[in-house]
Amino acid sequence: MIREHLGDCHRCKLHAGRKQIVFGVGKADAALVFVGEAPGADEDRTGEPFVGAAGQLLTRMIAAMGFPREEVYIANIIKCRPPGNRNPEPDEIQQCEPFLKRQLGAIRPRLIVALGKFAAQTLLRSDAPISTLRGRFHIYEGVPLMPTFHPAYLLRQPDAKRLVWDDLKVVMAELDRLGIDRRRGA
Ligand code: URA
Repeated sequence: MIREHLGDCHRCKLHAGRKQIVFGVGKADAALVFVGEAPGADEDRTGEPFVGAAGQLLTRMIAAMGFPREEVYIANIIKCRPPGNRNPEPDEIQQCEPFLKRQLGAIRPRLIVALGKFAAQTLLRSDAPISTLRGRFHIYEGVPLMPTFHPAYLLRQPDAKRLVWDDLKVVMAELDRLGIDRRRGA
């Protein structure tokens, strides 16, 4: 099991300041996966990704798409909180991202949504700005991936919610085309 292999991880320096490893939550064979950046204080405290203010907005976005939160899978590029919520550093990503890659390999989602510049650039090995990456599908390990703005950005820039909803509408249309029942996430 991937979680067992991760263990009480000391592979990078972030173990020193973390309260909990935030592995990821959701359905083991979810059709749709959301990937964020890194745990914040609320996630570090609870062990669950996206439970703070940005997470509550994400949960509302998922509900607006027709999914109960537990029907999708939610994870981050890195699993431990960086001090002061600084950006994850290259050595931290290098140690941690292989676990996310294995999680995605096990879940085999039909679609992935990358939340924010950091997740999109890391997964796509791109340095293009999120404003140019967003809005269309890219391919990650054979799976269509839609980059969009991070919900924390939407808390600061509510006008951008409209653009995120446009991106999620493209995701919903593709889920419908694939015959995935959003109300059950089947
Ligand atoms: N922001 C993220 O990118 N991930 C979380 O889990 C919480 C906030």
